[in-house]
Amino acid sequence: MILPKAANLTVYPDAVELAAVVAQRIAALIAQSIAARGVCRIALAGGSTPHRCYEQLSSLPVDWPRVQIYFGDERCLPVGAAGRNDEMARRSLLQRVELPAANVHAVAAELGAVRAAADYAARLKAALPLDIVLLGMGEDGHTASLFPGNPALQSEDAAVAVFDAPKPPPERVSLSLATLNAARHKLFLVAGAGKREALARIAQGEALPAAQITAAEWHLDQDAIPAKPI
Ligand code: 6PG
Repeated sequence: MILPKAANLTVYPDAVELAAVVAQRIAALIAQSIAARGVCRIALAGGSTPHRCYEQLSSLPVDWPRVQIYFGDERCLPVGAAGRNDEMARRSLLQRVELPAANVHAVAAELGAVRAAADYAARLKAALPLDIVLLGMGEDGHTASLFPGNPALQSEDAAVAVFDAPKPPPERVSLSLATLNAARHKLFLVAGAGKREALARIAQGEALPAAQITAAEWHLDQDAIPAKPI
């Protein structure tokens, strides 16, 4: 299978192996960023796929005080709500490592998408380009909170307010395509048979949001690979 704009594609036997190997890859990229620039600015992916990878990453030797944590997107839910992407990251990674609280740059999504996106865009300015962006992909080919046909895809701002998201909650904040694509390293983590159709559509040239991320490393488990060859 070939994904048109991918830098490379690696298929793992299962989601456990994917999580373990990608955690090592992330740790190596963090070390590379710190060696080059004295800091690593990484945007974490939301959803459920990265959870296991983050747990694996939390046990690897990383110079956490030199890591600045951002989020690829956030759901407009109250602070501490179980469904927030920053909560998943806290449970699986951030509260397991020696990371200064000031290094975690959460999206103030509880303020509502418009205010939170403007606030995040302002806070991101000094941090761009990001060193690493971790991304998931939805069954419709969305990534971060950039959904097919949503006006947020056209934004030139650093972060963008999202409304009418088909994956609840409807209101979100996302890094823009421009911000995601400007990152030095972009890694997709995609697992499960539910992602086969979107991957097949991307392999056939459909410009789904995830397909618009350029030069990314795609890390897939075998289950996500479409059944019939493309
Ligand atoms: C979200 C995520 C979203 C996620 C994909 C894949 O807020 O849900 O940011 O982009 O990465 O929907 O989600 P799963 O990993 O749960 O399949």
